[in-house]
Amino acid sequence: MTAAADALTVRPAGDGDRAAVLDIERRAFDSDTEARLVDDLLADRTARPLISLIAERNGRPVGHVLFTAISLGEGNLASASILAPLAVVPEAQRSGVGTALVRDGLARLADERCDVVLVLGDPAYYGRFGFVPARGFGIRAPYPLPETWNDAWMAQRLSDRPLPPGTPVARPARSLDRPEYWLP
Ligand SMILES: CC(C)(COP(=O)(O)OP(=O)(O)OC[C@H]1O[C@@H](n2cnc3c(N)ncnc32)[C@H](O)[C@@H]1OP(=O)(O)O)[C@@H](O)C(=O)NCCC(=O)NCCS
Repeated sequence: MTAAADALTVRPAGDGDRAAVLDIERRAFDSDTEARLVDDLLADRTARPLISLIAERNGRPVGHVLFTAISLGEGNLASASILAPLAVVPEAQRSGVGTALVRDGLARLADERCDVVLVLGDPAYYGRFGFVPARGFGIRAPYPLPETWNDAWMAQRLSDRPLPPGTPVARPARSLDRPEYWLP
Protein backbone atom coordinates (compact mmCIF):
# COMPACT_ATOMS: atom_id res chain seq x y z
CA MET A 1 0.00 0.00 0.00
CA THR A 2 1.41 3.44 -0.86
CA ALA A 3 1.79 6.22 1.65
CA ALA A 4 -0.82 8.29 -0.19
CA ALA A 5 -3.34 5.44 -0.10
CA ASP A 6 -2.72 5.09 3.61
CA ALA A 7 -3.59 8.69 4.38
CA LEU A 8 -4.84 9.47 7.87
CA THR A 9 -7.08 12.49 8.27
CA VAL A 10 -8.55 14.11 11.38
CA ARG A 11 -11.57 16.41 11.17
CA PRO A 12 -14.39 17.67 13.38
CA ALA A 13 -17.19 15.12 13.69
CA GLY A 14 -20.62 16.39 12.67
CA ASP A 15 -24.16 15.18 13.32
CA GLY A 16 -23.86 12.87 10.32
CA ASP A 17 -20.93 11.08 11.98
CA ARG A 18 -22.88 10.07 15.09
CA ALA A 19 -23.32 6.40 14.13
CA ALA A 20 -19.66 6.07 13.09
CA VAL A 21 -18.46 7.73 16.29
CA LEU A 22 -20.56 5.48 18.53
CA ASP A 23 -19.40 2.43 16.58
CA ILE A 24 -15.74 3.43 17.07
CA GLU A 25 -16.33 3.84 20.83
CA ARG A 26 -18.06 0.47 21.13
CA ARG A 27 -15.38 -1.36 19.18
CA ALA A 28 -12.42 0.32 20.90
CA PHE A 29 -13.69 -0.39 24.41
CA ASP A 30 -15.67 -3.55 23.60
CA SER A 31 -18.45 -2.05 25.71
CA ASP A 32 -21.44 0.28 25.44
CA THR A 33 -20.35 2.48 28.35
CA GLU A 34 -18.15 4.95 26.46
CA ALA A 35 -20.52 5.11 23.47
CA ARG A 36 -23.34 6.04 25.85
CA LEU A 37 -21.15 8.62 27.57
CA VAL A 38 -20.20 10.22 24.23
CA ASP A 39 -23.83 10.27 23.10
CA ASP A 40 -24.84 11.93 26.38
CA LEU A 41 -22.02 14.48 26.25
CA LEU A 42 -22.75 15.47 22.65
CA ALA A 43 -26.28 16.43 23.74
CA ASP A 44 -25.21 17.98 27.05
CA ARG A 45 -25.25 21.80 27.10
CA THR A 46 -22.98 21.84 30.15
CA ALA A 47 -20.31 20.04 28.06
CA ARG A 48 -19.88 23.06 25.79
CA PRO A 49 -17.64 24.24 24.31
CA LEU A 50 -16.67 20.80 23.07
CA ILE A 51 -14.40 19.42 20.39
CA SER A 52 -15.33 16.10 18.79
CA LEU A 53 -12.83 14.78 16.25
CA ILE A 54 -13.00 11.75 14.00
CA ALA A 55 -9.97 10.09 12.38
CA GLU A 56 -10.30 8.35 9.02
CA ARG A 57 -7.81 6.11 7.29
CA ASN A 58 -8.43 5.71 3.58
CA GLY A 59 -11.83 7.27 4.21
CA ARG A 60 -12.81 4.73 6.87
CA PRO A 61 -13.56 5.88 10.42
CA VAL A 62 -10.88 4.51 12.77
CA GLY A 63 -10.74 6.81 15.77
CA HIS A 64 -12.53 9.42 17.84
CA VAL A 65 -11.68 11.82 20.62
CA LEU A 66 -13.88 14.12 22.65
CA PHE A 67 -12.87 17.20 24.65
CA THR A 68 -15.57 18.79 26.82
CA ALA A 69 -15.73 21.79 29.13
CA ILE A 70 -14.74 21.38 32.76
CA SER A 71 -15.08 24.09 35.36
CA LEU A 72 -12.43 25.01 37.92
CA GLY A 73 -14.63 26.55 40.56
CA GLU A 74 -17.53 28.96 40.64
CA GLY A 75 -16.93 32.31 39.02
CA ASN A 76 -13.57 31.15 37.74
CA LEU A 77 -12.71 32.57 34.35
CA ALA A 78 -10.04 30.06 33.29
CA SER A 79 -11.07 28.00 30.31
CA ALA A 80 -10.54 24.30 30.92
CA SER A 81 -11.28 21.18 28.94
CA ILE A 82 -11.13 17.44 29.60
CA LEU A 83 -10.07 14.76 27.15
CA ALA A 84 -12.45 11.80 27.45
CA PRO A 85 -12.78 9.37 25.88
CA LEU A 86 -10.09 8.56 23.27
CA ALA A 87 -10.94 5.55 21.14
CA VAL A 88 -9.22 3.76 18.27
CA VAL A 89 -10.74 0.66 16.64
CA PRO A 90 -8.72 -2.51 17.42
CA GLU A 91 -7.37 -3.06 13.90
CA ALA A 92 -5.99 0.49 13.73
CA GLN A 93 -4.43 0.66 17.20
CA ARG A 94 -0.72 1.39 17.63
CA SER A 95 -0.46 2.99 14.22
CA GLY A 96 -0.51 6.65 15.23
CA VAL A 97 -4.28 7.31 15.18
CA GLY A 98 -4.60 8.17 18.88
CA THR A 99 -1.53 10.40 18.65
CA ALA A 100 -2.94 12.28 15.65
CA LEU A 101 -6.28 12.81 17.41
CA VAL A 102 -4.74 14.08 20.65
CA ARG A 103 -2.30 16.42 18.89
CA ASP A 104 -4.98 17.84 16.62
CA GLY A 105 -7.31 18.39 19.58
CA LEU A 106 -4.63 20.13 21.65
CA ALA A 107 -3.81 22.46 18.74
CA ARG A 108 -7.49 23.35 18.33
CA LEU A 109 -7.87 24.00 22.06
CA ALA A 110 -4.82 26.27 22.03
CA ASP A 111 -6.35 28.19 19.08
CA GLU A 112 -9.54 28.56 21.12
CA ARG A 113 -7.54 30.01 24.01
CA CYS A 114 -8.12 27.11 26.36
CA ASP A 115 -5.92 27.54 29.44
CA VAL A 116 -5.63 23.99 30.70
CA VAL A 117 -6.54 20.47 29.52
CA LEU A 118 -7.16 17.58 31.90
CA VAL A 119 -7.21 13.83 31.40
CA LEU A 120 -7.57 10.73 33.54
CA GLY A 121 -5.49 8.07 31.82
CA ASP A 122 -2.25 6.16 31.53
CA PRO A 123 0.69 8.49 32.31
CA ALA A 124 2.93 6.41 30.01
CA TYR A 125 0.65 7.28 27.09
CA TYR A 126 -0.47 10.84 27.86
CA GLY A 127 2.93 11.93 29.18
CA ARG A 128 4.24 11.97 25.61
CA PHE A 129 1.82 14.78 24.75
CA GLY A 130 3.00 16.99 27.61
CA PHE A 131 0.51 15.98 30.31
CA VAL A 132 1.92 15.94 33.86
CA PRO A 133 0.23 15.09 37.19
CA ALA A 134 -2.49 17.68 37.83
CA ARG A 135 -1.56 18.02 41.49
CA GLY A 136 1.38 20.18 40.29
CA PHE A 137 -1.27 22.79 39.35
CA GLY A 138 -3.36 22.15 42.47
CA ILE A 139 -6.30 20.89 40.39
CA ARG A 140 -8.26 18.19 42.17
CA ALA A 141 -10.28 15.45 40.46
CA PRO A 142 -14.08 15.57 40.81
CA TYR A 143 -14.02 12.44 43.00
CA PRO A 144 -11.31 11.27 45.42
CA LEU A 145 -9.27 8.87 43.31
CA PRO A 146 -7.51 5.80 44.72
CA GLU A 147 -3.90 6.59 45.61
CA THR A 148 -2.57 4.34 42.85
CA TRP A 149 -4.32 6.60 40.32
CA ASN A 150 -2.77 9.82 41.58
CA ASP A 151 -0.41 10.15 38.62
CA ALA A 152 -3.20 9.26 36.20
CA TRP A 153 -5.03 12.53 36.89
CA MET A 154 -3.07 14.78 34.56
CA ALA A 155 -3.07 18.31 33.21
CA GLN A 156 -1.40 20.35 30.54
CA ARG A 157 -1.24 24.15 30.45
CA LEU A 158 -1.90 25.73 27.05
CA SER A 159 -1.53 29.35 28.18
CA ASP A 160 0.24 31.27 30.92
CA ARG A 161 -2.95 32.95 32.10
CA PRO A 162 -3.43 32.41 35.85
CA LEU A 163 -5.50 29.53 37.15
CA PRO A 164 -7.76 29.98 40.18
CA PRO A 165 -5.88 30.15 43.47
CA GLY A 166 -5.96 27.29 45.96
CA THR A 167 -6.78 23.72 45.01
CA PRO A 168 -9.94 23.88 42.90
CA VAL A 169 -11.98 20.77 42.24
CA ALA A 170 -12.51 20.26 38.52
CA ARG A 171 -16.22 19.87 37.81
CA PRO A 172 -17.03 18.17 34.50
CA ALA A 173 -20.21 18.35 32.43
CA ARG A 174 -23.29 16.85 34.06
CA SER A 175 -23.09 13.64 31.97
CA LEU A 176 -19.50 13.00 33.06
CA ASP A 177 -20.02 14.02 36.67
CA ARG A 178 -20.87 10.53 37.87
CA PRO A 179 -18.69 8.45 40.21
CA GLU A 180 -18.83 5.38 37.99
CA TYR A 181 -16.75 7.21 35.38
CA TRP A 182 -14.11 8.13 37.95
CA LEU A 183 -13.79 5.32 40.44
CA PRO A 184 -12.67 1.71 39.94
C1 LIG B 1 -5.12 3.69 24.03
C2 LIG B 1 -5.39 4.11 22.57
C3 LIG B 1 -6.34 5.29 22.53
C4 LIG B 1 -4.05 4.49 21.95
O1 LIG B 1 -4.25 4.90 20.62
P1 LIG B 1 -3.36 4.27 19.47
O2 LIG B 1 -3.76 4.87 18.18
O3 LIG B 1 -3.46 2.79 19.57
O4 LIG B 1 -1.89 4.71 19.92
P2 LIG B 1 -0.80 5.41 19.01
O5 LIG B 1 -0.55 4.56 17.81
O6 LIG B 1 -1.10 6.82 18.79
O7 LIG B 1 0.44 5.37 19.99
C5 LIG B 1 1.15 4.21 20.05
C6 LIG B 1 2.10 4.31 21.20
O8 LIG B 1 1.39 4.39 22.41
C7 LIG B 1 1.65 3.23 23.19
N1 LIG B 1 0.36 2.78 23.69
C8 LIG B 1 -0.70 2.38 22.99
N2 LIG B 1 -1.70 2.04 23.83
C9 LIG B 1 -1.23 2.26 25.07
C10 LIG B 1 -1.76 2.11 26.35
N3 LIG B 1 -3.01 1.63 26.56
N4 LIG B 1 -1.01 2.44 27.39
C11 LIG B 1 0.26 2.89 27.22
N5 LIG B 1 0.82 3.06 26.02
C12 LIG B 1 0.08 2.75 24.97
C13 LIG B 1 2.25 2.22 22.28
O9 LIG B 1 3.18 1.42 22.97
C14 LIG B 1 2.96 3.08 21.26
O10 LIG B 1 4.22 3.48 21.76
P3 LIG B 1 5.46 3.62 20.77
O11 LIG B 1 5.09 4.73 19.82
O12 LIG B 1 6.58 3.98 21.67
O13 LIG B 1 5.56 2.30 20.09
C15 LIG B 1 -6.01 2.94 21.76
O14 LIG B 1 -5.13 1.85 21.78
C16 LIG B 1 -7.39 2.53 22.24
O15 LIG B 1 -8.40 3.03 21.77
N6 LIG B 1 -7.47 1.54 23.15
C17 LIG B 1 -8.74 1.05 23.65
C18 LIG B 1 -9.51 2.14 24.37
C19 LIG B 1 -8.72 2.75 25.49
O16 LIG B 1 -8.14 2.07 26.32
N7 LIG B 1 -8.68 4.10 25.57
C20 LIG B 1 -7.94 4.75 26.62
C21 LIG B 1 -8.13 6.21 26.60
S1 LIG B 1 -9.62 6.70 27.47
